[in-house]
Amino acid sequence: MSIIVKPATIADLERIYQVEKECFTTDAFDKQYLACLLENPDAVSLIAKMDKSIVGFIIGLVNRPFEEITGHVYTLDVVVEYRRRGVGLKLLKEIEQIFEEKGVETCYLEVREDNVGARKFYLKHGYVKAKKLRGYYKGSHGVQLKKRLRV
Ligand SMILES: CC(C)(COP(=O)(O)OP(=O)(O)OC[C@H]1O[C@@H](n2cnc3c(N)ncnc32)[C@H](O)[C@@H]1OP(=O)(O)O)[C@@H](O)C(=O)NCCC(=O)NCCS
Repeated sequence: MSIIVKPATIADLERIYQVEKECFTTDAFDKQYLACLLENPDAVSLIAKMDKSIVGFIIGLVNRPFEEITGHVYTLDVVVEYRRRGVGLKLLKEIEQIFEEKGVETCYLEVREDNVGARKFYLKHGYVKAKKLRGYYKGSHGVQLKKRLRV
């Protein structure tokens, strides 16, 4: 079954929020915050569709604080029944490519220290630990990961 990745719009908010709550029970972003991200012109928001329904999404932001342009993945979510079928990887590769086109040199993201599956996923795809984030999440430390997109 093919995975179709395309830009998300505010019309996808309800489904995106539903998936976010399913994927991150305690740390889920609220609907208002997701709406702000979807409407932020510096954000890159993508949905993945299979069987005509949204089975995953990714949202990141391009930051230009100093000389180096950085990318930041805020959330990557795949519904449980569609995991381990390449949806997460397709979303990640697509956002990395868009980040690169926008001049991003390094991509950052945060993950719970106890989220073993996600950490394995990111490490497999070139992310390395940047720093430990003490007390970052409810009940768990976090880890900041990074990947150099431009060599
Ligand atoms: C992390 C997540 C996005 C991965 O999505 P996915 O669509 O299942 O990922 P893929 O199918 O592209 O996986 C590719 C590879 O990543 C690794 N991987 C993914 N999930 C894994 C898990 N639970 N345990 C170990 N390795 C895992 C594997 O190497 C996998 O390849 P394999 O299936 O051939 O072993 C998904 O599990 C998810 O939404 N988790 C909940 C939310 C979350 O933690 N998001 C990331 C933090 S922002």
